[in-house]
Amino acid sequence: MLLHYGKLNINDRKGDCLYKAPRGTSDILPQEQTYWKYVEEKAAFLCQLYGYQPLTTPILEDAQLFARTVAGGTDIVDKEMYTFEDRSGQKLALRAEGTAPVCRAYLEHGLFNLPQPVKLYYIGPAFRYERPQAGRYRQHHQFGYEALGEADPALDVEIIEMAQRFLLSLGFSEFSIQLNSIGCKLCQPKYREALRQHYSNYTTYLCPDCKVRLLRNPLRLLDCKKISCQKIAETAPKITDYLCPECQAHFQSVQQYLEALVIPFQLNYRLVRGLDYYTRTVFEIEPHEEGAQSALGGGGRYDNLIEQLGGKHTPAVGFAAGIERLILNLKKQKIKVSVLPKPIAFIAYLGEEAKIEAIKLAFELHQAGIAVIKATGDKSLKGQLRQANSLCTNYAIIIGEKEVKNHTAVLRDMITNKQKTIPLAEVISSLKQN
Ligand code: HAM
Repeated sequence: MLLHYGKLNINDRKGDCLYKAPRGTSDILPQEQTYWKYVEEKAAFLCQLYGYQPLTTPILEDAQLFARTVAGGTDIVDKEMYTFEDRSGQKLALRAEGTAPVCRAYLEHGLFNLPQPVKLYYIGPAFRYERPQAGRYRQHHQFGYEALGEADPALDVEIIEMAQRFLLSLGFSEFSIQLNSIGCKLCQPKYREALRQHYSNYTTYLCPDCKVRLLRNPLRLLDCKKISCQKIAETAPKITDYLCPECQAHFQSVQQYLEALVIPFQLNYRLVRGLDYYTRTVFEIEPHEEGAQSALGGGGRYDNLIEQLGGKHTPAVGFAAGIERLILNLKKQKIKVSVLPKPIAFIAYLGEEAKIEAIKLAFELHQAGIAVIKATGDKSLKGQLRQANSLCTNYAIIIGEKEVKNHTAVLRDMITNKQKTIPLAEVISSLKQN
């Protein structure tokens, strides 16, 4: 790995630490933060534009919150949750996804008393014990938003429209919106049964996971990635042929509103999503070149989830994108991201008296809101300038014995290497001009 820190390349000089970040997790080093801030700022801007307010929930939740809502028969609950008992014996889980915690907070804080829908967003880590690979980690971060308390299909379309606007604002132009409806409590049982019957004809060809899915969660049979299972899915009955009239009408309206906004989408009858709480609309955003494992984000309606948590029937819809995957794709597509602001100058000194002047000058510059880094320690001037160079500051301000005597400083342009001596009192105004 090659680390770029300013202009310095740090070539794989690994330290001798006894510990490593746990498998599937990673440190986000300073040079990576540019991408993170870029994505987070676009996310916050989008949510402000559509009136979604930020919500932060704990990283720990009661394990049952996920077990009940994400539900058994999904990989997340069966194999991927990080659960443990705390010292009081309470069973807790690291946040596996963001929607159930938002619904818990909605109920716990009586947000249902507000005019509905309540619109919220979050950015934070999620934990799933998966087999780590590119774009799949044990700790990943999600940007998600949820609209709670409204069944109108126009809200499904707002959620999809926002996802599209978000990706466009990041600079992506090539992605597809996959859309499906998976019906409701009324129509799903009939469809499940039809799926069971279809797959029962092929049990010997099913992968071991799908054999379990056939018994516990037949909808998930449709998105198995094994080729032999995909073949069977090709001829499987379509959910849209089983939708009840209300779900049919809802799905029609979603498509009609998307068409009115000229938002392109692809109907994908095999899209079922990996979490069990969905009803009606489900959608995923796929980058063009990648396989099916690589959704940039996904979401949909979950009209029964809040009721499952003990609340009244509360329709809701939302979306979440994986930040690591967005960044992987930004890099892959060489999309330029705005660079984080960096300190404008590095203050170097020679000698103890000059050091005091340098400390005072840095204090004044910080007070004036000008970002600078001051040297510390007893490096040579050459060493200090090398540091300024590696930090990519535009200027170095150098104070030596002569400058202390004359109340001046040397202002060195680090790009042209030209320098001039200016009165100390003019440093602030000189830097402000740049
Ligand atoms: P999800 O599809 O499980 O949905 O996750 C959302 C996104 O998080 C995925 O599309 C993907 O980009 C990213 N992601 C998921 N797992 C990983 C992983 N192991 N490593 C890296 N990235 C990952 C949900 O979590 C729902 N709560 C979304 C939602 C919000 N539905 C309604 N509202």
